[in-house]
Formats: sequence, C-alpha cells, structure tokens
Amino acid sequence: MSDTVQELSERFRELTGRNPDGVWSAPGRVNLIGEHTDYNEGFVLPFAIDRRTRAAVGLRTDGVIRVTSTFDDTPVEFHLSALDGARSEGQIAGWSAYPLGVAWALGQHGADLSAVAGVDIIIDSTVPVGAGLSSSAAIESSVALALNDLWSLGFSREKLAKVGQLAENEVVGAPTGIMDQSASLLGATDSAVFLDCRSLDATVVPLGLAQAELSILVMDTRVSHSHATGGYAERRAACEAGAAAMGTSSLRDVSVSDLDRAQTLLDDVTFRRVRHVITENQRVLDTVRTLNEEGPLAIGALLDASHVSMRDDFEISIPELDLAVETARANGAIGARMTGGGFGGAAIALIAHDQVSRVEVAVKQAFAARGFTEPVTFTVTPSQGAERNSAQ
Ligand code: GLA
Repeated sequence: MSDTVQELSERFRELTGRNPDGVWSAPGRVNLIGEHTDYNEGFVLPFAIDRRTRAAVGLRTDGVIRVTSTFDDTPVEFHLSALDGARSEGQIAGWSAYPLGVAWALGQHGADLSAVAGVDIIIDSTVPVGAGLSSSAAIESSVALALNDLWSLGFSREKLAKVGQLAENEVVGAPTGIMDQSASLLGATDSAVFLDCRSLDATVVPLGLAQAELSILVMDTRVSHSHATGGYAERRAACEAGAAAMGTSSLRDVSVSDLDRAQTLLDDVTFRRVRHVITENQRVLDTVRTLNEEGPLAIGALLDASHVSMRDDFEISIPELDLAVETARANGAIGARMTGGGFGGAAIALIAHDQVSRVEVAVKQAFAARGFTEPVTFTVTPSQGAERNSAQ
C-alpha cells in the first residue's frame, strides 16, 4: 500500500504521464452481527474499518477503461461500450472484475457508457484479501464513488451500494447481498451501520468503543474463502427453499414465534438454516437496542450466541474460527464470533484494551498447539466510509 495519497498519485503519473483527477478511498468492513441475513431481506450491523482501498482515477480522451493495481501491475483494458459483450462472453476475470464490473453496473443503473469519457484507474489496498473483511466491496465502493463523481452521475450512496452488489453478482459471479457495499459507503467513525436490507433504510449506531475502552480484535485464520463457489450459494438456496416451504418469498417475513411451525414444515437441515436466520435477525435488533440502552460492554452474549448459531445451525464455521473464538473467550474477551460469509476468513473479539495482547498471544499459542497456520491478529477501528481524498 502506498503510504499516502501523494504516493499513489505519483504512481499514476509514472504509468500515465499525467496527474489523476483525484484519489478516492473506501474501507473494508467488519460485520459486528447479522450474518447471512442480508440476502434474506433481514437486518445487519456492520462497521467500516480503518483498512482502505484507494483508487487514483483520471479521465482519458477516449472511451477506454484501463485498470491496474499495486498488487498486479498488468493493465487490463476494454472499451466501455464493449464491457457488456465482454461480460456476457466471460472475458472479465480476476481482480479486474471488481472495477470493470462497477463500470458495467453503473451502465446497468442508467449511466450512458457510450457518452462518458474513458478512465485510467490505479488501485492500492490495505484490506487483507480472503480474510472476510470485504476487500472486494472496498474496491467496488472506491471505484463507484470515483466514477460517480467524474462522470457527474449524481447517484446516491445507497444506489452505489446496489451498483457494487450488481458487479459482484453478475461480473464476479458471487451471489452476495448488499451488506458489504453499504458498510463501505455509509460507515461513520466509532459507529456501526444498522441496515434494514428490505427497505434499505440505514441508521448510524454509535458504538462507544473508545469511551468504554474496548477494542475489536480481528483474528484472521488465513484460511482463504471464496463466495463465488460452493457453500455460500448453497446456504442462500436453502434459505430460499425454506422461505418457499413456509409460504413466503423471504425469511424476513418469519420471526421467532414461527419457529415451531417451521420445524413441522421443514427437513432438519433446512430448519436449522432457517432458525439461524430468524434468530440472527432478532439478535441484530437486540444488539442495537442494547448498544443504545446499555453500551457495548453488554453485547457480549449476543456475539457469542451468533457464533454458536453459525457453527451449529448454519454450519459455516471451521475449526480454526471456532478455536479463535473459544480461545478469545477463555482469555477475557467479552464476546466473540466469526464474521463475514464463513468457510474461512476471520473471527472478531470484543476485548478490553488492556487484554488485547493477552488474547493475541493465547490465540497464536492455541493455533500452534493444534498445528494450524499462524493466524494474523490486529485491532480495527470503526471508521469513515468511502470518501474523496484529493482533488489531484
Ligand atoms: C459475505 C457477503 C455479504 C453477506 C455475508 C454474510 O460477506 O458478501 O453480502 O451475505 O457474506 O453475512
């Protein structure tokens, strides 16, 4: 990662021979609670983190979009008017699918790609890839905000979140929900974003971590996951099947009081998938209320219950995530859970500032004792969402 906006601008100059029109940045996210609820039109409570993707972007005089990055300097380029055809033929692949997908998705949402100028984009990121912290949404959101500004589209941040999701669904090929892009675009300092994924109403909820002298520790198992294949899509399909069997289009329409009925209608596996979503929605509501009424010290049990539900009912945890969560709890964490889509990635723990190093050491020792790859641990601070960092 270039240390500064100036360094990325300098890199842009080296590659293109001119100044960028600006540098935009967008954060990764940690989901505090509300997992696999977004595509069920439920509730989520993520926050933007202090790990960001930056995009230096400059207009071109032709209609070509050209993307490169500090982690892969081979440029990929298409004429903007050829993006749709390239997407249909599966020619957009690898990391460039995120920025190119965003340009395509802006077109799908009404931008006239035959009328706008081309762009050079250089991307740089400190969001770890494959850790479940939404490095993909960080790329999408930084590029979406940049193109929205440079092409004078006037799209709202809520609409840009949908643009990012469409890129991810239709170009990257991952059937993900709206949570990650919303967190990246709507996040605020020391706050989480409470999002109703049906209405898309978003409320900023103060977390009060600094005042309570609490940290969020990320424990990245380094077991890499992908949501474009396998388990994620299966879980989504099970939720849709469960909703259909209960006579509704979305699990948002069922609540804890419907669990007995669900059990009589559904096979055991589908019932447990549905129970996770129903109870997780309730836990998000309870977490928001608890944060507002009692503060962050009181949410530990909700985080723990969320992890148990993901481990036993939704079955998206892995031994490394369970070990991280259990070890953190045994060493003083107030609550802990895996975060993100699962099948790898990271867990989080809510910990008093002065207990953080003790938990980090304990988790690393526990991993070594089980013969697991050494995890990477670091604290994150709830931070500002996507923004323009410089005009030049
Ligand atoms: C991934 C997806 C999100 C969400 C989470 C699970 O991060 O991108 O849309 O579904 O998994 O909560």
